[in-house]
Amino acid sequence: MNQLGWAAVAPPTRFDDLSLEQLHARRSVKWRRYPRDVLPAWVAELDFPLAPPVHRALADAVARDDTGYANADGLPAAFAAFAATRWEWDVDPQRTVLIADIMSGVGELLRALTAPGDGVVINPPVYPPFFRMVNEVGRELVEVPLGSDWRLDLDALESAFAAGARCYLLCSPHNPTGTVHTRDELAAMAELAERRDVLVISDEVHAPMTLPGAVHTPYLDVGPESGLALVSASKAWNVPGLKCALAIAASERMTEALRRLPEHVPFHVGHFGVLANIAAFAEGGEWLDDLVAHLDAQRTLVAGLLAAELPDVRHVRPEAGYLVWLDCRELDLGDDPSEVFLERGRVALSPGLPFGAQGKGFARLNVGTSGALVAEAVSRMRSALDG
Ligand SMILES: Cc1ncc(COP(=O)(O)O)c(C=O)c1O
Repeated sequence: MNQLGWAAVAPPTRFDDLSLEQLHARRSVKWRRYPRDVLPAWVAELDFPLAPPVHRALADAVARDDTGYANADGLPAAFAAFAATRWEWDVDPQRTVLIADIMSGVGELLRALTAPGDGVVINPPVYPPFFRMVNEVGRELVEVPLGSDWRLDLDALESAFAAGARCYLLCSPHNPTGTVHTRDELAAMAELAERRDVLVISDEVHAPMTLPGAVHTPYLDVGPESGLALVSASKAWNVPGLKCALAIAASERMTEALRRLPEHVPFHVGHFGVLANIAAFAEGGEWLDDLVAHLDAQRTLVAGLLAAELPDVRHVRPEAGYLVWLDCRELDLGDDPSEVFLERGRVALSPGLPFGAQGKGFARLNVGTSGALVAEAVSRMRSALDG
């Protein structure tokens, strides 16, 4: 425990009740990548117990020995109802296709809807697999960095579209900065994209975790003709290993494009993923509200801890999610400060450089855990500087 006393910042919630012993028993990548003496605060997994409806849906399936192939029934309608309630977004379940996860969906969509060598715009610093996937499918990366305020740079986007980019991979909300794009920003961007016939693929996997003070605008809700949204319960309800997401088309034309995806695509979807997504969207709203309240408190907590223990580290206050982008350049720890935190502090953050050149000297901290474990992570980072 650090001197600030994490509990003083916000009253503990049920999400604070975590046992490190139980977390170490997990076999997911977050908990198995590093030796036991390292506190993992890197990959975007949550440490909390599952939402009860999700837990029940999965336990019931095991009780039925129900481990066959996925059947999509009920998921598009469950998501449509969730989108209508949360965001007043009118989703037509007929305009959706199941995909195994966001990134394989991005890959399939780029292969199906763009041509080899086409320019694909991304906004670094951004989720590293965006770089990898564009390269993997043989398209050309067009980097349009976020502005110095970590927001979309509409002028630079306009130039990239005018220069011939064919597709724009939007991260909405943005990882790693937690930026929530406003309706005005998205509407202005949509107009630019439509004018140049640029296909926008909007990754909205973090959207359910939009925090108080910000409002998530679904990209398709600003009315583009040529857009696709990718959604899943995977991040907010922590079921990314179950492999299920949805691609949603903006228009009839886009729906026909979705139907051109290879036949194998829905067969990669996990049956447990579908069951968990349905439970999350249909019955997981109350749990999600509590999660968002906890993440809001975590955001305040980490700001206080950093100010007290690592005043030279600047951070971006996330508007969504549980990932905190840390500017560690003042610490003079070189290009990859996460290496020093890991080696000397025994705490694993995500290194900044894979998010793009703008990530040099940065690291990303996962605060999707208890207050005590965030305090421990910051305290370990602090101790790394003592040695
Ligand atoms: C912006 C973003 N997109 C996609 C993913 C991964 O989603 P999936 O596992 O469904 O490919 C993540 C995971 O952290 C993410 O942050």
